[in-house]
Amino acid sequence: MSLIEIRNLHASINGKEILKGVDLTINKGEVHAVMGPNGNGKSTLASVIAGKDNFEVTQGEIIYQGKNLFDLSIDQRAAEGIFLGFQYPVEIPGVSISNFMKTAINEQRKYKGLDPMPTFEFMKLMEEKKKIVELDSKLANRSVNEGFSGGEKKKNEIFQMAMLNPTLSILDETDSGLDIDALRIVAAGVNALRSKENSTILITHYQRLLDYIVPDFVHVLYEGKIVKTGPKELALELEEKGYEWLKYE
Ligand SMILES: Nc1ncnc2c1ncn2[C@@H]1O[C@H](COP(=O)(O)OP(=O)(O)O)[C@@H](O)[C@H]1O
Ligand SMILES: [Mg+2]
Repeated sequence: MSLIEIRNLHASINGKEILKGVDLTINKGEVHAVMGPNGNGKSTLASVIAGKDNFEVTQGEIIYQGKNLFDLSIDQRAAEGIFLGFQYPVEIPGVSISNFMKTAINEQRKYKGLDPMPTFEFMKLMEEKKKIVELDSKLANRSVNEGFSGGEKKKNEIFQMAMLNPTLSILDETDSGLDIDALRIVAAGVNALRSKENSTILITHYQRLLDYIVPDFVHVLYEGKIVKTGPKELALELEEKGYEWLKYE
């Protein structure tokens, strides 16, 4: 069953068209890698799905679980299970990760008409999910991302994802210099959360990441369109040949 269908999506930033007709369907349980050179619209696509307002959708539609995504605000989309890594503020002085997660979880529960999560249940969930990313307790009590190293931020991002248990996770790795440890953390988190009900869009230009998280499909986003879709082996081909050859396909 399809979770999200993106049809002929066009989006602009400051009057400049960035997405020029993206078509992408993702079924429940699938992991899709989106690759492509810098500046071709990968992060824009992530922003459009999550509902950030720094762009303008000029054409097309996105249907998510039978709903028109453009009818939903960024918060409603989050409550409907769409998670964008790094969507949350980078630094919140004085707010610990645990307080921050409690607020986020309870906002989503409220949207679904549920009471706040009882504290003991929340603590249990924290312990369970901390193990997935090997997040130590000291980190959980620090302010959100304040003074965190790259690897710690990455752990925190995956921890947030694990806590919220999103239906659609969008991880945009492009701009972070991921070292091998960070790669492992991201991979362990994504793999632990993989299920028949959850789907992931993994934006990366590192073929290496796909050694750890084996995608069901690889797409190439080039000049604002998905120009090629293939199995996981496509990532290797891209690494070997680069992206230029796609122009002449
Ligand atoms: N806030 C912005 N204002 C103007 N142009 C932007 C902005 N954000 C992104 N762009 C431009 O949009 C294009 C696509 O960017 P992006 O989606 O970040 O690509 P990618 O993630 O594939 O590297 C680039 O040409 C970039 O310069
Ligand atoms: Mg990007």
